[in-house]
Amino acid sequence: MFSSAMHLQEEWAMVKDYTLNSTKSYHIGGLKSLGWELTICNALQQEGTPLRKLLTCNESFGRLLYGCLCTFLPLWNVTHVLEVGGGYGYLMKDFLEKDSSLKACMLDISPFLLNKQRETLKGFSVEYREGDFLEVLPSDLSAFDLVIMNENLGDFPSLINIRTEVFDSKNANNDPVLKWVQGIFEKYGLERPEGKVFNLNMGAIEALEKLCCAKVPYIYIGEHSCEASVSGEMSWLFQIKSTGNPERITLAGHDEYTIKFSYLQKIASFHGYESIRGPFADFIPLTLTDEARFALMYGGHYSDEAEVMSQFVEDLYKYEYLILKEKEEPI
Ligand SMILES: C[S@@+](CC[C@H](N)C(=O)[O-])C[C@H]1O[C@@H](n2cnc3c(N)ncnc32)[C@H](O)[C@@H]1O
Repeated sequence: MFSSAMHLQEEWAMVKDYTLNSTKSYHIGGLKSLGWELTICNALQQEGTPLRKLLTCNESFGRLLYGCLCTFLPLWNVTHVLEVGGGYGYLMKDFLEKDSSLKACMLDISPFLLNKQRETLKGFSVEYREGDFLEVLPSDLSAFDLVIMNENLGDFPSLINIRTEVFDSKNANNDPVLKWVQGIFEKYGLERPEGKVFNLNMGAIEALEKLCCAKVPYIYIGEHSCEASVSGEMSWLFQIKSTGNPERITLAGHDEYTIKFSYLQKIASFHGYESIRGPFADFIPLTLTDEARFALMYGGHYSDEAEVMSQFVEDLYKYEYLILKEKEEPI
């Protein structure tokens, strides 16, 4: 009995060497600026910048996204909008300027950013909620017609270095986290990762399950993808290496992980949602100047401005969006 307990313990140690990446304490106490992790929304906020000049139209991120959502969703049916992790509040300001009848709610884990949102959205009637989205009850979400989550799922907890043995080791059942991992792959029929270890966007999956269970009719998600690719004319200028495994991005005070969109798509489909997926470049159309082409071909290594330009264009392909729409029940 003793030896079998030892054996179990050894196996337990063998499987339990994953870690959990969390950004919670950073977002609650440490974050004092988003400047270190310039989001695409923030990068396009100011008019007249070299990045804005790369676009076919002189528009901000929120206005371009609103236009994109209009083509896929009946936004005239949307009244109650929740934005989770709204950063400086620019996206919601654009939405409210487009449609002043919207009833907006901003939910954020960061008290600092919630205050920034209050400043940006001054003059609009907006509700503010401070908290971790993962602690929100699905019943508190059922009143919303549309939920927006832009560039924040990578901040949600991720499991790092899970051994692929988890799929055949009976011992995984002893660990509630690994049990959860097994359950998710089984329930949704997710393709099993290859190799010895993999990372999993646990928080992103839990967040999506919550939205689907609350039956939110329309959901928008945008984030850095681990499955991004470049096609068409752009592929002559640069390539993106995607491993398909959520990758670490080290930022000021915290690490975040890229998102495996194919899993989110499959989970949403299981819950009865249709999806539209693509790179941000689909709704942020570029007009490439000779200068920008040159910057992309040479990776922008020769000047700061060229580097910013090539990084921005590449990001429009590295970031993906997923628009989810609840399928109508047959009558
Ligand atoms: C990288 S910023 C993106 C801000 C904005 N959406 C944009 O695109 O510029 C991530 C945002 O998500 C928020 N956030 C991170 N984890 C969260 C959580 N668990 N619950 C709610 N908000 C969270 C952060 O405080 C921040 O507002």
